[in-house]
Order: sequence, then structure tokens, then C-alpha cells
Amino acid sequence: MGVRSLDDWIPSTGPSRPLAGRRVLVRSDLNVPFEAGRITDDSRIRASLGTIQRLRAAGARVIVCSHLGRPKGVRVAELSLRPVAEALAGLLGCNVAFATDCVGEPAARAVAALADGDVLLLENLRFHRGETDNDADFAHGLAALADLYVNDAFGTAHRAHASTAGIVPLVADAAAGDLLRSEIEHLSVVLDPERPLLCLLGGAKVSDKLAVIEALARHADVLAIGGAMAYTFLAARGEPIGRSRVEPDLLESARHIEQSAREAGCRLLLPVDHVVAAALDATATASVVERIPDDLMALDIGPRTADLYAAEASRARTLLWNGPMGVFEIEAFSHGTERVARAVADSQAKSVVGGGDSLAAIHRIGVGDRIGHLSTGGGASLEFVQGLVLPGIAALEC
Ligand code: 3PG
Repeated sequence: MGVRSLDDWIPSTGPSRPLAGRRVLVRSDLNVPFEAGRITDDSRIRASLGTIQRLRAAGARVIVCSHLGRPKGVRVAELSLRPVAEALAGLLGCNVAFATDCVGEPAARAVAALADGDVLLLENLRFHRGETDNDADFAHGLAALADLYVNDAFGTAHRAHASTAGIVPLVADAAAGDLLRSEIEHLSVVLDPERPLLCLLGGAKVSDKLAVIEALARHADVLAIGGAMAYTFLAARGEPIGRSRVEPDLLESARHIEQSAREAGCRLLLPVDHVVAAALDATATASVVERIPDDLMALDIGPRTADLYAAEASRARTLLWNGPMGVFEIEAFSHGTERVARAVADSQAKSVVGGGDSLAAIHRIGVGDRIGHLSTGGGASLEFVQGLVLPGIAALEC
């Protein structure tokens, strides 16, 4: 990859603290899920620690910035990064200062108080519209805080925002952080795979993943689809789907994708059996069927489908999984996703898993250490495996 890395600033031989006295702004993706004010999954914070620790050890004054949620340019108390600063401090095992704004006087004052090796977290970047607008003044405001800039926010690399793109030409030097580099390296195996390449895609809506399904139908050897989006494909084939979720305006797209897959020699697999119920409800009676009755809806792939997809996983040499196979938050409809998670873990393939729900399933059954790479990027990882240029990475190449 043609971008600078931390190795350029922190060579293995040479002075022990080469960044002493330097203020380094690190764009991380600390956009973590919250429930009732508590962080429910700190994976993104943990994944960001390596770069921060490395910079601290090199003597840098580390200024971390991130977004949280989509506050659209206004201060939203629930989207403050303050609790994330506390979590970060706990995981780093050091004090993490917090600035109540990411630019201007509060940020400048907090930066001025830093000593070598200290860490500061700035308040949510998206409390300013200038962040998502990639506004030049806002980017200047961020750049003024630091001597050097590191982008380690792979999860946000698909956004051309001030802190991921606009800032780069405004700083003296910019580099990719270790997490960003590791994501690029691991996800690149899907672009240039050892074959067969199996892509397992699930989730609720075809519309959310249309572009990636189209791209992978031309690139993968096997594309296995699960989740509610499978029912738009089955409806497009003219199969009975009962009251399952369907996107009628995407039936034509689904047919077109099947056609492209056929032309490219990709086997596109759809569920052959289903877990059905009368309603999406934890108390509804679930049963397994091959033909979906008119009055029922499919809420998970059935056991035969799970076996079929697991067998593909055992044959694959490269494997990408994104998206649940059913409504896995409800026990009765979670088995397909869990079976697939186990199959991905058991596979000898180089495996890459992305997307919050797939990762949650992996963690729930405790097989995270048997997956090749757990990506911190949801949308970013899907754009990357399509071969798209991600603005956050492209900016570093300039
Ligand atoms: C994500 O959670 O996918 C990233 O943090 C990007 O967030 P966004 O979709 O709100 O830009």
C-alpha cells in the first residue's frame, strides 16, 4: 500500500521516543453501541488501542478524535464521547483527558495541557456539521491542534469527512494507523482470493446491500444468501414466500443479479428450508418448512440450508461473511446464524467477518479467536470488498 505508516515515524532502531514533544491527532472509529447509557460492545475501542499505545510509547502527545452516532451538527447529550473516554482509560490503563469540544478553545486548552505520552479524547466530531460536510474551516480547526495526523478509523474510511479526508493536506505529515493497515491487508484477500471464494451475505434488506451483492455475484465462486433479503430473491424466482418480508421494487434487480452470477460462473444459493412463524415475536410457535405457507413468514434459514452453507464453508479457501441468517436476537430464530458462525470458525479458509450482527453472533458463541479477521468496519468493509476506493484511504495516498 502506497501510504505512510507508523513504521516511518517510529523506526525499530533509533531514538527510543522519536515522537517526544509531537502532538499527534489520531482519527479512530469509537462509534460503539450504547444501551441505557452503557457501552454494549467495546470491540472498536479495543481495536484502537494498539496505535494509541504505540504512539504513547514513542513519546507522542496523543489526541484522539471520533464520531459517535449521527447527531447531524447539534450537541446531543446521549452522543457525548465522555463515557468512551472513561472506557478508553480503563483499557489503556492510564488517564485519558476529555475536551468538551473537538475544535476551538476547549480543544486547544486540553491539547496545551498534555505532556509526552498523555492521551486526550475530543468530543464527538459530528456535533459540528463541518465534519460530515467536509468543511475546510472545520478541517483547519482540527489540523491546528496537531503536528502529525494518523487515520486509524477503518470503520469510517468510506466517508469523505473533514477528519478522514479534508484534514490530510492541512497537516505536516499523515500516516495510516496499525488498525487501518491491518484491515486493508486482511480484507484484500477477498479482492484477490484463493479460490473457491465463498461469500455468505445476510441481513434484512436487499436495498442495503444491493451494490455489494451485485459486485460479489460477479466475483465469488459461491454466493450464499440468508436473512430476510433471501425472500426477495425467492419471490423473484416465483417461489412461495408467504408473508415473509419482500422488497417488491427490487424483484427485477434480484433477477438481474442471478443472471450476472450465472454469466460469471458464480453459484448463487438461496435457502431451501425455513424457520417460519405467524409473527415476528419471541412467543410465536416456530416450525421448519420447505414450502412457506401463505399465512406464515420465514424468520431464519432452516437446518438443511444451514448444513448446505456449512458444507460450502468447509470447501472454501477464502470466506467472507456479513449479515445474520435470521432474526438472531430471538432464540427460536437464531440457530441458522449460530450454525453459520460455527461453520465459519471451523473452516480452514482465510475468513473475514464484518457487520455488527455477525460479530455479535461470533462473540455470543465464543469463536472469535478462530476467525481469520474480525473487521471493525460494517459499511466500510462492504465497500472495500467491492473494490471501491475508500476516501479515507485515498486521502492518505495523495
Ligand atoms: C459505522 O458504524 O459503520 C461507522 O462508524 C460509520 O458510521 P456512519 O455510517 O454513521 O457514517
